[in-house]
Amino acid sequence: MSIRRTTVKAALAGGEGPGAIRVMGWVRTRRDAKGFSFLEINDGSCLTNLQVVVDEGVEGHDLLPELGTGASVAVSGELVPSPGKGQRFEVRAGKLELLGPADPESYPLQKKRHSDEFLRSIAHLRPRTNKYGAMLRMRAALGQAVHAYFAANGFAWVHTPIITGSDCEGAGEMFRVTGLTDAEAALPPKERAEKDFFGKDAYLTVSGQLTAEPLALALGKVYTFGPTFRAEHSDTSRHAAEFWMVEPEMAFADLEDNMDLAEALLKSLVRTAMEDCAEDFGLFAKYVDPTLPETLAAFVAEPFVRLPYKEAVNILVAAKKEFAYPVGPGLDLQSEHERYLTEEHFRRPVIVYDYPRAIKAFYMRQNDDGETVGAMDVLVPGIGEVVGGSAREERLELLEARIRELRLPLEAYWWYLETRRFGTAPHAGFGLGFERVLMLVTGIGNIRDVMPFARTWRHLEF
Ligand code: 4AD
Ligand code: MG
Repeated sequence: MSIRRTTVKAALAGGEGPGAIRVMGWVRTRRDAKGFSFLEINDGSCLTNLQVVVDEGVEGHDLLPELGTGASVAVSGELVPSPGKGQRFEVRAGKLELLGPADPESYPLQKKRHSDEFLRSIAHLRPRTNKYGAMLRMRAALGQAVHAYFAANGFAWVHTPIITGSDCEGAGEMFRVTGLTDAEAALPPKERAEKDFFGKDAYLTVSGQLTAEPLALALGKVYTFGPTFRAEHSDTSRHAAEFWMVEPEMAFADLEDNMDLAEALLKSLVRTAMEDCAEDFGLFAKYVDPTLPETLAAFVAEPFVRLPYKEAVNILVAAKKEFAYPVGPGLDLQSEHERYLTEEHFRRPVIVYDYPRAIKAFYMRQNDDGETVGAMDVLVPGIGEVVGGSAREERLELLEARIRELRLPLEAYWWYLETRRFGTAPHAGFGLGFERVLMLVTGIGNIRDVMPFARTWRHLEF
């Protein structure tokens, strides 16, 4: 026999009409009055709780003392129009069953506001709070919206590998994957690599880009969306060791097409958050950042600023502001600089493009000036960089020369180079940090709080 239940969301919508109903969920609060009690039940299907009225004498009424915050319960009864304010429907209980008690003395989630830090330490229970429930539903909806956006725009979803033999960003910040025993791992590097599972060193990928490119140069428009890994020791509110990246790649496209796509995709995701997730969005607008609705309405309405790196540097040099890191031609932009541009100078999203070639990855397309490459970063207020991408160097000789110049192992890139040797074509793509978009639409200030179980420097609980 299967468990038949109506979700709280469906019950509150009155979808199945007044009548017999069975709901299951966790008790958020219980209030006892003379002759009856109220239970507020949440089952995670939506933010709002379902009110259950339990009259004295109802079957299971004696269980009420155990039905405190956190306990799980099954309620059979009648869905009826609610006379009270705030909800259209409520349940008149006919029978209560206690599924799982939660000792009120030790249950960590009480009916008060808990700090983000405390909730991080109970990441297995925080999904049961309003805020984290809302965040997780939003995360799910935005993930689906990514797929919907690309499907509607003719992109094929491709699955790029997670285990890789190459360092896409060339930054050397990769986690090693190994099947070696301790003794084998202690061998000298060459022997060790040969003994290992793949017969060479292997890592967790930092980006699906290098394998997405050959697929774009066959299918035209593709995207990959999955976990990526970085062993960066940056212990900031915007970096995680494991995070999700959305990476579209388009053949027959240039940097401008790339900017257009990034802007349209971001706006579409923001719209989804505000419109399709209105209830959960409302929580963030009320309790996390009251300026969200206004900020995000402007975000979708106004065009992003598009600013060459050179002009960005001029603005920063002229800024009446003390930066911790130096600014000047040829120097990379630090997050304080990025945030000044988007938060103070323009107060809008900014796409900085045409960066100096010396500070960017080998695969970026070299501009005719000989100094810059067709790179772009999308910067947004409150967060900084949410998207990084580029036009790709499709000219074989230039690409080879760049790989040599950077002393990267040319042989290892033989397959990548062949896509330029045979039927090469201009192409472009980018990586969008999924968590950073979630921070943008929720106002949540720490990446640890937009993922269910964050992996960061020195933190691997759960
Ligand atoms: O700018 P990044 O490093 O670009 C790439 O990896 C390209 N290969 C992507 C491509 O062109 N297909 O990373 C892309 C985005 C960043 O803009 C940022 O939003 C996010 O990924 N990101 C991180 N998010 C959370 N934690 C980290 N440690 C991140 N590193 C990058
Ligand atoms: Mg970047």
